[in-house]
Amino acid sequence: MDIHFAPVPPPGCPAHDSGVRVPLHGPDFAANPHAYYDYARTYGPTAPVELAPGVDATLVTDYTAALNLLRDPAFRKDARRWRDLHSGKVPADSPVVPLLAYRPNCMFADGAEHRRLRQAVTDSMARIDSRRLAQITEHVSTYLIAQFGTRGSADLMADYTKQLPLLVFNELFGCPAQVGDRVLFGIAGMFDGVNAAESAQLLHGAVGELVALKREQPGDDVTSWLMEHEADLTDEEMVHQLSLLLGAGAEPLRNLIGNTLHRILTHDRGAYQDVRNAMNDTLWRNPPLANFAAHYPESDRIFAGQQVRAGQLMLVSFAAANAGMAQSEGHHAANRASLAWSAGPHACPSQGPATGITVTAVDNLLGQLPDINLAVPAHLLTWRPGPFHRALNTLPVAFSAIQAVGRPTAPVPPHHATAQAQRSAEEHRPGGPGRWSQFLAWLRG
Ligand code: HEM
Repeated sequence: MDIHFAPVPPPGCPAHDSGVRVPLHGPDFAANPHAYYDYARTYGPTAPVELAPGVDATLVTDYTAALNLLRDPAFRKDARRWRDLHSGKVPADSPVVPLLAYRPNCMFADGAEHRRLRQAVTDSMARIDSRRLAQITEHVSTYLIAQFGTRGSADLMADYTKQLPLLVFNELFGCPAQVGDRVLFGIAGMFDGVNAAESAQLLHGAVGELVALKREQPGDDVTSWLMEHEADLTDEEMVHQLSLLLGAGAEPLRNLIGNTLHRILTHDRGAYQDVRNAMNDTLWRNPPLANFAAHYPESDRIFAGQQVRAGQLMLVSFAAANAGMAQSEGHHAANRASLAWSAGPHACPSQGPATGITVTAVDNLLGQLPDINLAVPAHLLTWRPGPFHRALNTLPVAFSAIQAVGRPTAPVPPHHATAQAQRSAEEHRPGGPGRWSQFLAWLRG
């Protein structure tokens, strides 16, 4: 694709302020983001971009500059510093505002407050047993494959990657089905920028119900572990931490699984004997969070040769920084230094569980459907628009239909949270069993 922009000012040139901005939205960007990143890199380590109509930002596209920003406490995460939002320049109803606007959770906290909130998250996530997580993921995966496997075809985004993280999270967070459905709906809406404000509200309300449920009946789950942590989180803090964990977890996880499957299905099958290598290449070349890590300089300063102003929105392009690094240094599968998980104090605290879920989900699918292939030519696949994520719309596949898959031989013992989640789902179902109750019924035969 040819992209025609105005002539590019050299790095350091005042024309950086000339109003020529690289658009990170719209169908052309979604179709070929690397053409836009290549162009943005011609500005130097940072480029002026537009995230949505009326929403300007500075995008860090250089790997070293990105690390410098992510590790420098003079760049703050607290979005109440966002000058353009508070001056009214950014439309309050812009589709990107719900993801960027301040909320009292660890992603928007700095310094001691960040350490307190983050410690509660990392300590609670650390209590997840990796073998149990693999077992849950495998059972969920097998269940989902059983739902579409007899058809011989599927859309892996709708039938597999969208469902899997939430069914796994339902178990991990002790989250009832009817809450979980609204959580994913809310998160997808926020990331798509479709009815973003309502989506954020939907998510908030569903998580509030979960917190109330766990205050009454704690279980052996991440929600209850967060609650009993010495950080002593209030109900409001609980709701915001959980919304963050579920939101920051489900959507990129879904897309990491989708993008890893896309990578495998668009390469020779022999190229990826080890799913971890496919996932790592995906993290380098097609990271599910392409541009994020919003930061705000605490004062006017020079950054990477450019003047930046206090409260100016700055984003890191993990996708562009990785691509630039891979081009200049070359990259090999064993290199784990991609920026896809970010870096510094706000780097993703869930790399371990997210990696475990992804590898198990992809491994199990390929093991059960060994002749799976794309059902359409790769160039016809389309990607969801939006400046932050890198996510397929659909991933249509074909394979030899399988017989109805039996239950796993060693079912996950239903612990307290699961039994409670099932009860709750059954009590609240509108017109039939929800996805979570269906899964439990299948598991138990
Ligand atoms: C189990 C699934 C996941 C959970 C629960 C989770 C949770 C979180 C949380 C709580 C943060 C904020 C940390 C802080 O501010 O101190 C975070 C940040 C981040 N996560 Fe994850 N995450 C998950 C999966 C993923 C995946 C699959 C990716 C992509 C490869 C990813 C990429 C990131 C990035 C880039 C950040 C930094 C964002 C920023 O600074 O704005 N995460 N994650």
